[in-house]
Amino acid sequence: MTRRQKAIAFFVGLCVLLVLAAVSLNVSWIVINARRITVHVVLGIIAFALIIAGIIVYTVFLVLEIKRNEEHDSFINAVTHELKTPIASIRLYLETLQSRNVSDAQRRAFYEIMLADADRLHHTVDQVLKAGVAREKPRTAPSRAPVDMGTLARDCVDLAVVRHHLQAGAIQLEAHDDGPLVVKGDVEELRTVLTNLLDNAVKYSGPDIRITVSVAAPSPDTIWVRVQDRGVGIPRKQLKRIFHRFYRVQARGLKQVKGTGLGLYIVRTIARAHGGRVFAQSEGEGRGATFTVELPRVAG
Ligand SMILES: Nc1ncnc2c1ncn2[C@@H]1O[C@H](COP(=O)(O)OP(=O)(O)O)[C@@H](O)[C@H]1O
Ligand SMILES: [Mg+2]
Repeated sequence: MTRRQKAIAFFVGLCVLLVLAAVSLNVSWIVINARRITVHVVLGIIAFALIIAGIIVYTVFLVLEIKRNEEHDSFINAVTHELKTPIASIRLYLETLQSRNVSDAQRRAFYEIMLADADRLHHTVDQVLKAGVAREKPRTAPSRAPVDMGTLARDCVDLAVVRHHLQAGAIQLEAHDDGPLVVKGDVEELRTVLTNLLDNAVKYSGPDIRITVSVAAPSPDTIWVRVQDRGVGIPRKQLKRIFHRFYRVQARGLKQVKGTGLGLYIVRTIARAHGGRVFAQSEGEGRGATFTVELPRVAG
């Protein structure tokens, strides 16, 4: 049991005790006054009920705050790690370049590594900023223009193959013959959605990366973009929670996978701002996961 779990158990226990005490006081109060029900007695009963409700609301609030605090802590740990590691690596390579004579080939290899580290830094900062924006003004309508989801999916798949150094065929794109699949929205935001889902699919696949992306119209006025992997999967209980800000499922099967717990929160915020939704499905741990983004379709 962690310190926070102990705190939660303590406050819940205290709440139960207080409620029991209040209820028994209330009952004895009613029994004592059963003969003559006056306004005072009725007021007393209402006051007891309010006290009990107050204790429960207070405890729920307290427990939620403790949980939120825990999420913030794990987020700060994750982000600090995600910022420190690439900086330390870049620094090391720069020092080596500065203090030693290295061959041309080595120099090029160092540049590659430093670029990858810079990309990682950029990605982390970008996620934090996007999550901040999403939180500040969740209701702003994104700039709207027609976006062909088929083309966008192809772009994102190509980029993911390059970025993650995947073999050709690791990501299959399934095209459906439903005509142009166009939504109205902000192309950059929709790209973020697909990139985040693809990044996760790669990250949580382990060594055997087989991902299927499909774009389809399940009904005339909706579009589905699906990203399906055959990786570690998600326990049923967590299927909804993974979309919460900072929420991460603790390491299973895979070595410690890095992340901030912001990706899916950003995906959900963008999907909702476009009048759509996103949901996850998984047969359970070790059996892969499927993420579906549902968006309203417009005539292409
Ligand atoms: N394709 C997937 N397969 C299995 N688990 C996933 C997948 N995508 C997301 N998850 C789980 O959902 C959590 C939240 O994802 P996300 O918000 O993108 O944060 P991060 O990737 O930074 O951990 C992850 O920590 C992971 O446990
Ligand atoms: Mg992620």
